[in-house]
Amino acid sequence: MAQEVRGVVAPGKNEAVRLETVLVPDPGPGEAVVQVQACGVCHTDLHYKQGGINDDFPFLLGHEASGVVESVGEGVTDVAPGDFVILNWRAVCGSCRACLRGRPQYCFNTHNARQKMTLKDGTELTPALGIGAFADKTLVAAGQCTKVDPEVAPAVAGLLGCGVMAGIGAAINTGQVGRGDTVAVIGCGGVGDAAVVGARLAGAAKIIAVDIDDRKLETARTMGATHTVNSRSTDPVEAVRELTGGFGADVVIDAVGRPETYRQAFYARDLAGTVVLVGVPTPEMTLELPLLDVFGRGGALKSSWYGDCLPSRDFPMLIDLHQQGRIDLGGFVTETIGIDEVERAFDRMHAGDVLRSVVVL
Ligand SMILES: NC(=O)c1ccc[n+]([C@@H]2O[C@H](COP(=O)([O-])OP(=O)(O)OC[C@H]3O[C@@H](n4cnc5c(N)ncnc54)[C@H](O)[C@@H]3O)[C@@H](O)[C@H]2O)c1
Ligand SMILES: [Zn+2]
Ligand SMILES: [Zn+2]
Repeated sequence: MAQEVRGVVAPGKNEAVRLETVLVPDPGPGEAVVQVQACGVCHTDLHYKQGGINDDFPFLLGHEASGVVESVGEGVTDVAPGDFVILNWRAVCGSCRACLRGRPQYCFNTHNARQKMTLKDGTELTPALGIGAFADKTLVAAGQCTKVDPEVAPAVAGLLGCGVMAGIGAAINTGQVGRGDTVAVIGCGGVGDAAVVGARLAGAAKIIAVDIDDRKLETARTMGATHTVNSRSTDPVEAVRELTGGFGADVVIDAVGRPETYRQAFYARDLAGTVVLVGVPTPEMTLELPLLDVFGRGGALKSSWYGDCLPSRDFPMLIDLHQQGRIDLGGFVTETIGIDEVERAFDRMHAGDVLRSVVVL
């Protein structure tokens, strides 16, 4: 029997989100129903609402979540009812070319639930990133549930499900920041600050935070930034070069994802340095760069999907580090809100007031 729950639905491009009744089917083979406890508001949810990801409206938003497994379908052995889990959007298949080559973080065939959640009139919903967790309960593939220590507060644990993992992973997995490296992070929201945390964890000697909002720069300092640059008033390329002995940073992470921030990242890096694009551009954006500079400056231009993470490896490890006090994930939770406050949270995100608003259920 499908269950009726509350869920936050984006009905159409740029329309305000609505709290709707959502029908959640019983889990089929390989699926699980999870009682959501917390779900952070990520900028990607706003991209979905604005039609920046695709046109598969209506969306069931929310994808940065933790909760407790309520029930599992046939054949599910890795998780059981009662397990505390972080939901992930990289349930690797184990059999595609990437998985078979031992690179499951690039899996081409990640799993989501096969059944659809619907509105009461039968309209099928597209869950954001195959999760849809601004809801009392959600249906996912069992592999999307990563078991972690239930001692961690749900609002904190859930953040590893997207933005914080993406940022930390952009630094340590994709950018491969090493001890003594210089790092610049452009855009210090939830994802960018997580990249700051990752760079610090990896032993970066200098971490330069760049943003257009002084409040964000202040927070970035508390997360481990050693220097800050307001790129509204200061040329960030010049500033990063100046702070790095005229060279540029070894690794520059673009956590905004716009042509102008990418260009800044490209030129603010040292010769043979690495650019990591973790911010998500929208379909109409294009980039123009002198090809000779792309060649002549050498190094690596990389994109970071989900911080190139492997949830089963990285979530429990980062939860351990958090519990040991070696990283502070609590600092990312600016406020906890009700499920009916997501639209207001988008406004606050847009105004730069928050790192993360987290819906608590
Ligand atoms: N690659 C991934 O797997 C992944 C995962 C999660 C989120 N994202 C993307 O990462 C980006 C950031 O997400 P977030 O949740 O941290 O967003 P956010 O809104 O919390 O933060 C964005 C930050 O960028 C700053 N900013 C905006 N324009 C800027 C500019 N021109 N120069 C410098 N700073 C600027 C803002 O002041 C803000 O601090 C989004 O594009 C989001 O979709 C990517
Ligand atoms: Zn695969
Ligand atoms: Zn996200």
